[in-house]
Amino acid sequence: MLRLALRVPRDHADLALAELLELVPGGVEERDLGDRIEYAVYGAPGELPALPDLQAAAGGTLVEVVTEEVADDWAERWKAFHQPITIGDRLHVRPPWADPAPEGVEEVVIDPGQAFGTGAHDTTRLCLELLLELEPGGALMDLGCGSGVLAIAAAKLGWDPVAGVDHERESVAATRQNAEVNGVEVAVSGFDLLRDGPAPSAPTVVANLLRPLLLAVSRAGFRGDQPDQLIISGLLREQADEVAAAFERFGLKERDRRTGGDWAAVLLCR
Ligand SMILES: C[S@@+](CC[C@H](N)C(=O)[O-])C[C@H]1O[C@@H](n2cnc3c(N)ncnc32)[C@H](O)[C@@H]1O
Repeated sequence: MLRLALRVPRDHADLALAELLELVPGGVEERDLGDRIEYAVYGAPGELPALPDLQAAAGGTLVEVVTEEVADDWAERWKAFHQPITIGDRLHVRPPWADPAPEGVEEVVIDPGQAFGTGAHDTTRLCLELLLELEPGGALMDLGCGSGVLAIAAAKLGWDPVAGVDHERESVAATRQNAEVNGVEVAVSGFDLLRDGPAPSAPTVVANLLRPLLLAVSRAGFRGDQPDQLIISGLLREQADEVAAAFERFGLKERDRRTGGDWAAVLLCR
């Protein structure tokens, strides 16, 4: 097993991470090296992203790539990296191997597999915080559902019916499997938000996508029910105004914004 680590300057780290997560949606290990941040992925030779792709992801800011053989404990280290989180004392998101939620706290069990989304990433956590602010009920659509964490949390909180779409087969499979493990119904299907036309919609929509994809959704619009409330995430702080404004043509206005690290998520309501 190999550990492939990229080192980037601290002030470019969030941008590099956003790009990297497109290549390795299952997540990366992060280490703080002072003026540099190291992101590492684990895999067998041949399974890891190619060096030119990594260089492109780092956008010319790559300082160093370090490859090392790792001992058999890599799986344990990977598990240690996926830590449970509790949001607003109401929602506990954990991997299958972590202890159950404290009593009275709604639990979501997520095995990320090959899909993005353990709940712990800032972009997902901020979405969950905004979701907890809404009155649950009615239909909800999760655009770019990854491991299904947002859709499953919504179903647990009381939205019904809940659906999700993603263009990656692994994400569709992971959402389906995680929904079953959590005992909730999520209608999940393959859909490419860049190629398949207006986005599937519902009165409540969550979209943890990066800026370019959110702007593409704002241009293509929504099919069927137009959203009355839309949570957008996956935005760097300085991108949030621009992307929120792009949804104004749907009658959606900013009601709340959460930030964490360099990331921002915005709740837009009619
Ligand atoms: C940042 S992840 C969010 C995953 C999950 N919703 C969460 O909050 O943890 C973005 C997701 O969008 C999906 N995605 C990226 N491009 C897409 C596209 N063109 N069409 C549909 N889904 C896409 C990715 O596969 C990934 O699962």
